Amino acid sequence: MKLDINYRERFDTRHNGPDENQVNQMLEFIKADSLEDLIDQTIPKAIQLEKTMDLPSAKSEYQFLSDFKVLASKNKIFKSYIGTGYYDTITPPVILRNILENPGWYTAYTPYQAEIAQGRLEALINFQTTIIELTGMEIANASLLDEGTAAAEAMTMLMGLRKGNKKNSSKFFVDKNVFPQTLDLLKTRAIPVGIDLVIDDLSKLDLTDESLYGIYIQYPNNDGEVIDHSDLIASAKENDVFVSVGTDLLSLVLLKSPGKMGADVVVGSSQRFGVPMGFGGPHAAFFATKEDYKRQIPGRIIGASIDAQGNNAYRMALQTREQHIRREKATSNICTAQVLLAVISGMYAVYHGPEGLKKIAQRTHGLTKLLAKGIKEAGFEQVNTHYFDTLKVKVSDIDGIKAKSEEKGMNFRYFGDGHIGISLDETTRIEDIVEIVSVFDPKTTFDIQSEADNISLDWPKGLLRESKFLEHQVFNKFHSEHEMLRYIKRLENKDLSLVHSMISLGSCTMKLNATTEMMPVTWPEFGKMHPFAPSSQTKGYQELFTDLEAWLCEITGFDAVSLQPNSGAQGEYAGLMVIRAYHESRGESHRNVTLIPSSAHGTNPASAVMAGMKVVIVKCDEQGNIDVDDLRAKAEANKDNLSALMVTYPSTHGVFEESIKEICQIIHDFGGQVYMDGANMNAQVGLTSPANIGADVCHLNLHKTFCIPHGGGGPGMGPIGVASQLKPFLPSNPVVKTGGDQAITAISAAPYGSASILTISYAYIAMMGRNGLTKATQIAILNANYIKEKLTGHYDVLYTGKNGRAAHEMIIDCREFKKAGVEVEDIAKRLMDYGFHAPTVSFPVAGTMMIEPTESETMEELDRFCEALIEIRKEISEIESGVADKENNVLKNAPHTAAVITATEWDKPYSREKAAYPLAYVRESKFWPSVGRIDSAYGDRNLMCSCLPLEEYNEDAQAIEV
Ligand SMILES: Cc1ncc(COP(=O)(O)O)c(C=O)c1O
Repeated sequence: MKLDINYRERFDTRHNGPDENQVNQMLEFIKADSLEDLIDQTIPKAIQLEKTMDLPSAKSEYQFLSDFKVLASKNKIFKSYIGTGYYDTITPPVILRNILENPGWYTAYTPYQAEIAQGRLEALINFQTTIIELTGMEIANASLLDEGTAAAEAMTMLMGLRKGNKKNSSKFFVDKNVFPQTLDLLKTRAIPVGIDLVIDDLSKLDLTDESLYGIYIQYPNNDGEVIDHSDLIASAKENDVFVSVGTDLLSLVLLKSPGKMGADVVVGSSQRFGVPMGFGGPHAAFFATKEDYKRQIPGRIIGASIDAQGNNAYRMALQTREQHIRREKATSNICTAQVLLAVISGMYAVYHGPEGLKKIAQRTHGLTKLLAKGIKEAGFEQVNTHYFDTLKVKVSDIDGIKAKSEEKGMNFRYFGDGHIGISLDETTRIEDIVEIVSVFDPKTTFDIQSEADNISLDWPKGLLRESKFLEHQVFNKFHSEHEMLRYIKRLENKDLSLVHSMISLGSCTMKLNATTEMMPVTWPEFGKMHPFAPSSQTKGYQELFTDLEAWLCEITGFDAVSLQPNSGAQGEYAGLMVIRAYHESRGESHRNVTLIPSSAHGTNPASAVMAGMKVVIVKCDEQGNIDVDDLRAKAEANKDNLSALMVTYPSTHGVFEESIKEICQIIHDFGGQVYMDGANMNAQVGLTSPANIGADVCHLNLHKTFCIPHGGGGPGMGPIGVASQLKPFLPSNPVVKTGGDQAITAISAAPYGSASILTISYAYIAMMGRNGLTKATQIAILNANYIKEKLTGHYDVLYTGKNGRAAHEMIIDCREFKKAGVEVEDIAKRLMDYGFHAPTVSFPVAGTMMIEPTESETMEELDRFCEALIEIRKEISEIESGVADKENNVLKNAPHTAAVITATEWDKPYSREKAAYPLAYVRESKFWPSVGRIDSAYGDRNLMCSCLPLEEYNEDAQAIEV
C-alpha cells in the first residue's frame, strides 16, 4: 500500500458538519446538481463575487496553535498597576476550567427558553444579588457591555425619568475626575440625543441650576480618592437632580455603599471579580438602581417566577426582548450583553463568600497603605487623602520612574500632570511592594515587615461599610472546591447548550465554537494584558488586529474596519454615528432621517434613535422583500434630510432580495448612506459581500458568523467595516490612538472592545482559509435548504427566493395551528421534550419560527431535528382532529420534567412514554428540563430579582417531591 506522507489535516472538515458523502445525498434530496448550482439558484447572479477572496490558505489546528503561540509571545506580560477600571485578578481555577473553558457554559444561547436555562439564570441571580448588596441598591440588571456604556445608559435613563419642572432640563453634569474612557463615552452618547454635557470640577456644580437634571460622579474617583458624597446627594435630592455613581466592586466590600448615600443609579465593571483583563474585555458591567425605575432599566433583568407545578423558576423579567417589541421607543439597544462574564463574577462571589471578599479587599487596601508609607519614606508626595487601592504620587522625573519601573517589569499610570498612579489588586503581594518602593528609591531601607504589622483601616467612620452583605446561603456554602465544582456542574446540567444538540436559532448562527479557537482566550499572553499597556508590550495584539482588520476588509469588500464595538447593536450605533459625522463633514448635519424596513431587527430602530435619527419605516411586500416603490417614495419625500437606510442582507426573512443593488442606488441617489446589518453574513462570506451589494458600512456579529460563542447571552463583538468615504470617522479612544483622522469619540470603553475574544475569530479565519470559509457558506445554505425540503408537506415555509430556495435560514409558519389552540410557544416548549432548543420564535413575523441550522450540523442531526418537528406536527394534527384534548395535551403540558413523569400520580390523557420519549433517539440521551412551563406574567407581577429567601428553597424541595 502506498503511504501518503503529504497528508494534511483540514480544519474545515471538522467545522463543517456534513462530509462529502452527505453533501451529495443532501444535494440529491433537494434536487440540486452541485453546491455551485444551489448557490446560483439562491444568490442573484448580479451580486455574486467574481473572484475568490484574497485570504491566506488554511492552517491545521496543530499548526495554528504553534504559530499563534509565537504571535502571543510578542505580548509582554508586565505587572499592571495602571488601574483606570482594569485590574489584575485571579480567576479561581475551578471557575476557569469549569465555566470559562467549558462549552457546557460558553456555547449556551441567551436564556429566552427559560425552562432549559435554569443554571445560568440562577448564576445570574447570584450576580444581581452581589451587585445589589455591594452597591446598596434595590435592583440590578445582568449585565451591560462595559462601565462607560453603563454610565451612558444611566445618563439616558435618567433623562427619560425627568418630570415636573425638570421635564425639559437638558444639562447633565459630570465630575471631570472620572475615568477618561467613561468621559468619552458620555460625550458620544450625549450629543445626538440633545443632552448638554457639562464636564467640570465638582466644586463648580450648581445644584440649584434649573436646567440641570442629573450628575455623574465616581467613587473612588479617577485619582483614586474616596469621598463621602452623602451631603452632595442629599442636596441633589432637594433640588430634584438625579445622581448616578460609577464605582468599584472590591472597594465596596469595605466602603459605605453609594446606595446608602442615596444614589439613584450605580454602575461599574465587575471585571476584577475573577475576569481576566483581556486587553479591555470582555467583562460584565453592572447597572443598579431603585425599584421605582425597574421598567426603565436598560438590558436584561433576571427574575424569579413559578412553573406549571408551582415550583420556583427563573426567567428574564419585564423588558424581555424589549427592543424587539418597543423598537424606536426602547429604553436601550442592548441585546447581546456579557452573560458569561457576569456568571463568572457571580461565581467568584459565591466561591469567596463575604468573608473571603473582605480578606481580599483588606489585603489590597492594606498593601496600598504600606506602599504609601514606603513611597513617603522614599521622599515622594502621595496626594490622595483617603484611598482604597490607588495612590497618586507627585513625581518630577517621570521618564526616570517610567524607565526604572519598566525595567522591573511593571507598568504605572501616567496622568500627564506630573503625577503617576499606582493601583494595586488581588494579585499584589508584600514582595511587590518592596519592588515598587525600590523604583522610587533603589537604596531603600524601608522596613516593610515591621511596618506591615502596623497597618489598620482608619477611614473616617462615615466612609466605612456598616451593613452586612451576601448573607444568603449560596454565598456561604460552596467554599470547598468539591462543593464549588458540584454546584457549578449542577447548574450546568440544567442548561441545554450546543454540547447536547443543535440550536437552530434564526439570525443567531449558533455554529461550532471549536476548541482550538477557544484555547488561546485563556492564555495569559492575552488575558493578562491591560488595555492601556504601552504599545511596545502589546505587539502580539497589534499583529492580530492588523491581520484581522485586513481579513475582514477582504471579506466585506470594505476599506477599513473598527474592532471597537462590543456587540452587533453597538456596531449599528457606531456605524450610524460614523455616517452622521460624514454628513456633518460635508456641511449636511441636517441629514437625520433613517429608513428602516418593517422586517428589521428591533435593535436597528433603537440604535438609530440613540444616534439622533428620525426613523421612517419602509414596507415589505407579500414575499417579504422591501417594497421598492415605497422605499423610493420615502427616500424622495425625505431627500433633503435622508441620512441612511438600514438593511439586513440576506433579509431577516431568509431571502436574497433581487433588488438589493437598486435599493442601495436609490438611497445613494438621494444623498443617503447604506448601513447593512451583518447578522446574516453567514450567507455571504466568499459568495458575495456588503460592498458588492452597494452598502457603505456594516457590522459583523463575530459571535455569529465568526465563531465567538454566545456565552449564554454574550460576550459578542460587532466590528464595523466601512467604505473609504467613512474611514476618517471610525471611533477613537481617549488613551490609545485608534480610528480615523477625524475620528468620532469612543463607542466602547476599551480601544479594541473585547479584544481577548478576537483571538477566536482570528483562529477561525486562519484555520478555514479562503476556500474553507466559502465552503462553510455553501454548506450553511445547503443545510437550510435540506431542512426546508424535509419539512415540505408538514410546515409552510413563509418566504423563498425566486427559484424557491431559502438562504441560510427560513421561517416556518405556525399561525394556522392557532385554530386548534396551539401557539408557536407550545411548539417551542414541546421541542424541549425531544431534546432540542427552539428556533427563533416570532421574529421577524409573529407566530412563526425562524430556523438556521448553520454549516456545522451533520445530516444526521438535521434529520433528528426534522423528525422532531414532523412528530410535533402529528401531535398538532391529533389536536386538530379531536383525538387529543385541546387543553390537556403533550404540547400544552410541555416541557415534561422528570418529577412530573415519575410522580406517583399520572392523570394525563397520554402515556408517560409519549410525553418523555416521543421518538426512539430521545432514549439514547434524554435531556430533562429542570422545571415545567414557566409563568412569566406571575414573575412580572411579583418581581423578585435577587436570591430567593431560604424558606422558598425549602418549599421548592417539597414541591419537587409531589
Ligand atoms: C438581524 C439582527 N440585527 C442585529 C442584532 C443585534 O446584535 P447583537 O445581539 O450582537 O447586539 C441581531 C441579534 O440577534 C440580529 O439578529
